[in-house]
Amino acid sequence: MTQKSEIDRRSFLAGAAGLGVAAASGAQNAARATERAAERATERATERATEQVPPPAAAMPARTGFYTPTRFEGDVYDCEVVGKIPADLNGAFVRVGGEWFYPPKFADDAALNSDGYISQFIFRNGKVDYRGRWVRTARFEANREAQRQLYGYYRNPYTDDPKVRDPARPALRTVSNTSPLAFAGKLFALKEDGLPQRIDPHTLESLGSWDFNGQWQSQTFTAHPRIDPVSGEMIAFGYEATGLASDDLFVYTIDPSGAVKREVRLKVPYVSVMHDMAITQKHIVFPFGGYVTSPERLKAGKVHWGWDSTKPSQIGVLPRDGDAQDVRWFRGPERCMMHVFNAYTEGNKVILHAPFYESNFFPFFPPVDGSPWNPAKARAYVRKITLDLASQADTWKEEILFDFPVGDLGRIDSRYQSLPARYGFTGFTDLQRPFDEARSGTSRARVTNCYGRFDFTTGKLSAYFAGNTHSLQECQFIPRAAHAPEGDGYLIGLASNLAEARSELVIADAQRLEEGDIARVILPFRASTQVHGVWVPEHTFRG
Ligand SMILES: [Fe+2]
Repeated sequence: MTQKSEIDRRSFLAGAAGLGVAAASGAQNAARATERAAERATERATERATEQVPPPAAAMPARTGFYTPTRFEGDVYDCEVVGKIPADLNGAFVRVGGEWFYPPKFADDAALNSDGYISQFIFRNGKVDYRGRWVRTARFEANREAQRQLYGYYRNPYTDDPKVRDPARPALRTVSNTSPLAFAGKLFALKEDGLPQRIDPHTLESLGSWDFNGQWQSQTFTAHPRIDPVSGEMIAFGYEATGLASDDLFVYTIDPSGAVKREVRLKVPYVSVMHDMAITQKHIVFPFGGYVTSPERLKAGKVHWGWDSTKPSQIGVLPRDGDAQDVRWFRGPERCMMHVFNAYTEGNKVILHAPFYESNFFPFFPPVDGSPWNPAKARAYVRKITLDLASQADTWKEEILFDFPVGDLGRIDSRYQSLPARYGFTGFTDLQRPFDEARSGTSRARVTNCYGRFDFTTGKLSAYFAGNTHSLQECQFIPRAAHAPEGDGYLIGLASNLAEARSELVIADAQRLEEGDIARVILPFRASTQVHGVWVPEHTFRG
């Protein structure tokens, strides 16, 4: 494994552009130089977006090779470990993703339509156990009963087998394959087209859907609710809240005990994927753009989403204590806005850090104008977006902070969610690193070989390299202790060992990523692919 010293890409860019950051004297000059360096990074990223390079890996990879479904449930006690598990790392790393139990009804269906699978690595006194189970949704059980795939295209019930077709109740066909949530003493598996599925946190047995004792009125629940670390409240939403392709957005504030405190019902500018959200101490932020649907499209038997490059990107800003008339919708250029790092409010401004794509990321949601999917624009960059609430303008200021593409499954130290967080963490492909194509049997362009710690303040990148036959899934930051400074802790995540056809959980010191692993947990098989994970500290669930 090679190691690489810390890179200051923004300084490098500033130097290359002749801006002389180091020589600049006075705060004003430095600020101006930083701004111009960010502008240059934006220009370079735009140039790169037009270069011809292989496509990035999709959020959930193909059903072939390393990612062929394994279809089993299992437990591994006292897993093999290389290195030493830190003694202060006690809790569970819970992961949710998708795997096809039965193959899809249509070969060109979205990978996002595969069956939910939940797993966890349980850390206790330096030892690790693994457990993996299917999320037994109503749909999973119906398929098992029929012994075949009954369900058609992604979020299109009109394409389902007549035995289960029910367009009036689309939430019943959720696969619950996107993210885990630990909240109010309960564990859930989430997907944005249905209600949360309750999961036993110890056995991972499925316990049915959850509507917050009837207080949750939306038919859907986001896969990315946000928990305020200051108040302990959860902010969550459901879009297409009143049925297929509906323009209703319901927004909820839920107290730490799980009781709904507040509901706001909004209309969206146009119906689109609303996958993630951000919160600040004062505002709720809803980014989306590009994807479109309609009742006619669904009745025509198409996959739920198409891409319309003429549609603006949108960011909604709703005061945490506001009502429907208080939302403000900002508009921007063509963007695919899936995930965010974090946001915070500073005076009259909302600052949002997010790894948004230039354009459509998903090849299985094709352009509505019939043009081919463009992989060169399916690239995400670390962006800083400033929304000025004092301005009359309906758009925002955007800067690209790092000039190379990154994975869009970004994380922060969650104790800083809604506050001015300095660090973001995400995977990326470093083409300078070695890659053993002969043993890995895949193209290096599809391999996420590094985790990065992105310093939003200084522009510095620190990088962890997983090895020359490994590809990384979403990472997770775990603080070393409750009151440790921001970013002091561990960075963990699952690596696919492409040469050995097995999965390995890597554990690194988040402040010393260049030094490589502290430890690796070795599974003797290919674990189900993760979309999102969460760290659940020990004693979160009693009993
Ligand atoms: Fe997500």
